Amino acid sequence: MKKSDVIEKILQHKLLQTPQRDQGQAFAPTNIALCKYWGKRDSELNLPVTSSLSIALPTKGALTSIIESHAKEDVVILNDKEVSPDSNFAKRLKNYLDLFRVKTLWRLQIDIKMNIPAAAGLASSACGFASLVSALNELFAWQLTKRELSLLARLGSGSAARSLWNGFVEWYAGTQADGMDSYAQPLAVEWPTLTIGILPISDAEKPVSSRVAMQRTVETSMLYANWPNKAAQDMKLLHQALQEKNFSLLGETAESNALNMHSTMLSSWPPVCYFLPETIAAMQQIWSLRRDGIEVYFTQDAGPNLKLLLHKKDKMIVKKYFPHADMINLF
Ligand code: DP6
Repeated sequence: MKKSDVIEKILQHKLLQTPQRDQGQAFAPTNIALCKYWGKRDSELNLPVTSSLSIALPTKGALTSIIESHAKEDVVILNDKEVSPDSNFAKRLKNYLDLFRVKTLWRLQIDIKMNIPAAAGLASSACGFASLVSALNELFAWQLTKRELSLLARLGSGSAARSLWNGFVEWYAGTQADGMDSYAQPLAVEWPTLTIGILPISDAEKPVSSRVAMQRTVETSMLYANWPNKAAQDMKLLHQALQEKNFSLLGETAESNALNMHSTMLSSWPPVCYFLPETIAAMQQIWSLRRDGIEVYFTQDAGPNLKLLLHKKDKMIVKKYFPHADMINLF
């Protein structure tokens, strides 16, 4: 099945519509997976092998504003600078928009403001596609539900399926070939004493994209066979941690899940390693803090930066060891 078939299923006659409003605008938060999406059962539709669970960072993300353009091509502006149409960033957006303009031809000016570094493992594609699809929903007055928007955002980038809500979000792997049961939903849990710290280590563009790394892992890592079991077990533990508000269980599970994901990458060929020496040094500092009784855990995505999980009350003490960490309240 192709992406365009799924879009046709969801939008049907609405695909005939041209922009109905002057502007569409939407903000989407970035999200940090505590149980990761790593590996696809369908790479055309970004259907995952396993379910995943994330927490949104409500103040970090993408604000996308779109208007109809009369230029020949879409115009993409990122943080007030026009992006070259030949860049991967602009091409990826254009290819995504092409999926929606099969029946009518329109061009857009897309103005994206992101307050997270793009392409450094901080889920810029997640909030980018989630905000773009929500802005399209406004501009074309499609009146889609969040579940439908989650299905559409997934076609841009898998993790974008989870970026339509604040708080904890679960993305169901689903089993259907057309992926109509692979959408995300928010979990009714609030945890006001939880804090996430973003520990910037490098904002250089990653050497291997998460998309390529994921596929290579599935194809070449002998450890990948065990990943679905690990993810299923971690999903259970995370649900338990959320229900009991058990911070240690949440932190241990998230950290172990991230390290297992990176182990599958290290064991793929050619190996994929997102650790910089500073990443390892920070991990060792975190383990040392834990030995001293300060409960802080980390998770890491497809980049060298770490995200810290800590109790709000420990913010100041953790800041002493990681002065560059950006501490974010979640609720
Ligand atoms: C490590 O969602 O960027 O951040 O579907 O190919 O666009 P594509 O991949 P993407 O992968 C994210 C991987 C991850 C884990 C996660 O966010 O769950």
